Amino acid sequence: MQNTDIVILAAGKGTRMRSAMPKVLHKIAGIPMVSHVIARANSVANAKTIVVTGFGAQQIEDTLGTDASCYVEQSQQLGTAHAVQAALPQIRDNSRVLVLYGDVPLISSCTIQKMLETVSDQQVALLTIELENPTGYGRIIRDSDRQIQAIIEQKDASSEQLSINEVNTGVIALTSQQLKDWLPQIDNNNAQGEYYLTDLIAIARGNGVNISSIKPQSSLEVEGVNNRTQLSQLERAHQQEMAEQLMDSGTSLADPNRFDQRGELTAGTDNFIDINCIFEGSVKLGSNVNIGPNCYIINSVLGDGVEIKANTVIEDAVIGDGAVLGPFARIRPGAELAENTKVGNFVEIKKAKVGKGSKINHLSYVGDATIGEGVNIGAGTITCNYDGANKFKTNIGDNSFVGSNSTLVAPVTVAENSFVGAGSTITKDTQQNSLAISRAKQRNVEGWQRPSKKTD
Ligand code: UD1
Ligand code: CA
Repeated sequence: MQNTDIVILAAGKGTRMRSAMPKVLHKIAGIPMVSHVIARANSVANAKTIVVTGFGAQQIEDTLGTDASCYVEQSQQLGTAHAVQAALPQIRDNSRVLVLYGDVPLISSCTIQKMLETVSDQQVALLTIELENPTGYGRIIRDSDRQIQAIIEQKDASSEQLSINEVNTGVIALTSQQLKDWLPQIDNNNAQGEYYLTDLIAIARGNGVNISSIKPQSSLEVEGVNNRTQLSQLERAHQQEMAEQLMDSGTSLADPNRFDQRGELTAGTDNFIDINCIFEGSVKLGSNVNIGPNCYIINSVLGDGVEIKANTVIEDAVIGDGAVLGPFARIRPGAELAENTKVGNFVEIKKAKVGKGSKINHLSYVGDATIGEGVNIGAGTITCNYDGANKFKTNIGDNSFVGSNSTLVAPVTVAENSFVGAGSTITKDTQQNSLAISRAKQRNVEGWQRPSKKTD
């Protein structure tokens, strides 16, 4: 298999973003735009990804790290050919070279593949598209045989050329030998005084090399981002694509326009996701999972038949088959809820294991705890895991019952089959098959007079 070198242009500042951050680091679906481009580039076997940086070079390298194969800096932005020139030392001999833009994030792997397959010593591949309004783009000039002859930039074009609707997307593929031979021939004698990569086309023709035009499957693939409005439009378009994939794989969405995926979401079949849910990082859903509106699920695994009711937040957690959570539950990192557990409204669970069939239905905090099977935790129960300096663990044995409004002061163990009376503060381990109760005895004061309102 031939080597492929993919040059990703990302030196521009992106002035219209009005941002201190380089444009290509602005995110689509929670991931920097340029990372989408790199991921798609990396889908090619033996690909070396070379990112050309300029504005915010260090920030880009720090953010992307080893995602790209290497970085080259173009300290002054003298044009797209000048940018590719900066990458030349990293381009291998006898490879195919593809040029992509860091601010055109939705190019598809399929189009990349098509471009590369077209490249040969006799043929350059150029990605073009017909636009109703071609303003701003380089126009594709064809001869009477419909052969591509050149690209003319907007600012250099005659009025006749400006009426051409076929435009250059900027994506081009050729051999490294062609690039090395032709790039030095490009000058900056044009309206913008820039080194135009697009001049390669006329040079190729002058050398008897054909230009083969490839069309993207959708115009979204070649849409660039120059401002935050365009960023939000591509975000929605990309979300729509991911929503469709999810639906095709057997999950129903109440409304694909109100669905957000920011990472990897894998799902079985016959799931239902209501509106305004966000899935972030790596999330795995089993089958027959039902997720209510306004849920936020981050890096978690949900088993089969899980039901998540409205407004529940789950992060770094594992939820067993048939568990029912929410509404308004907060499941924090390190929570492992076994099958058929129930966690209700205003319950917070952190770094805790909850055994099969156990229930924590209302208004509780369970942190740094292990709860056995068949346990019932009454409303308002708190594990006091922190003394202001250190954290301690609470153990709650199988089939125990913790009465409402209990305070379990860790480190402490509630034994199997034991019962904690409502309103108790438990500071010592309890015993199996017994009742632990620690609350002030109730007195009933006979004939007690209620206070009455002062009259002055
Ligand atoms: C370029 C093409 C044009 C095409 C259009 C598609 C040229 C001369 N023109 O025009 O035919 O229709 O893209 O969007 O290539 N960049 C650098 N270093 C530079 C200059 C640019 O890294 O010195 C990067 C920019 O950050 C940007 C990309 O290259 O990501 C395109 O540059 P830009 O100046 O926007 O080119 P256009 O004028 O849009
Ligand atoms: Ca542009």
